[in-house]
Amino acid sequence: MIIDGKSHSAKLRKKIKDELTKICQNTKDVPKLSVILIGDYLPSQIYVKNKQKKAKEVGIKSEVIKYPETVSEKEVLDKIKSLNNDKEVTGILVQLPLPKQINQKKIINSIDPKKDVDGFNPLNVGNLASGYDAIVPCTPLGCIKLIKSVQEDLKGLHAAIIGRSNLNGKPMAQLLLRENCTVTILHSKSRDIKEECKRADILVAAVGMANLVKSDWVKKNCIVIDVGINKLGGQIVGDVKFDEVKSKAKAITPVPGGVGPMTIACLLSNTLECFKAR
Ligand code: GUN
Repeated sequence: MIIDGKSHSAKLRKKIKDELTKICQNTKDVPKLSVILIGDYLPSQIYVKNKQKKAKEVGIKSEVIKYPETVSEKEVLDKIKSLNNDKEVTGILVQLPLPKQINQKKIINSIDPKKDVDGFNPLNVGNLASGYDAIVPCTPLGCIKLIKSVQEDLKGLHAAIIGRSNLNGKPMAQLLLRENCTVTILHSKSRDIKEECKRADILVAAVGMANLVKSDWVKKNCIVIDVGINKLGGQIVGDVKFDEVKSKAKAITPVPGGVGPMTIACLLSNTLECFKAR
């Protein structure tokens, strides 16, 4: 089974739109997402444009605040402070990666946790890790929704995650733990990555290495989620060798058209939740 991320994303966006339409009948307030975009890194520009378009479609106001690559850290921090204090702004996202002169930790820490639609602020990270209510990072949130669309009860399953980033691997592990999975996080220093993967009932590849996961890395009937977006010979491919693995997996996400569309839908969902929780 190929997991159709586009269709799951469309369903979630429709649900968000319907809910917002209902809420906005009785109030003049609307959610507003402010995105800070620094420099001219093309993938970031494409992501942000896409986010804006999809936000508009569901009835979320959005603005993009652009800065040149050379902007100072202070200027960005001052802007975030003013967005934190702006009652009209209900969600703030600073597109990553950031240029070298800007300290990512300082930027993320400065975002009001209640407006932190990315769920990257340490308060949200800590709440998620403690099993409390939290804003959950959009990509792993999308992944867990896709996994649960295949199998609702994940209790006791072995999950392996390749990659330990703050954006994907670590929050993914928390979400799978919350579902009572046994979780293994694999990374560049792990031994026997292939052997660990072979034991997994759920395999999430989020490492950014084209076609890393081959068919003989995967147990039969595994649920395979591919977070990778890699350029290879003018094509976009995932971290999983899709053509080989698809016949072995119980379900697998394609790249493109799997996790990517779901990430954007989850960003809109987080933006709606921040708006509702004000
Ligand atoms: N750059 C790549 N992915 C993301 C994301 O999920 N959030 C932000 N803010 N930047 C990113």
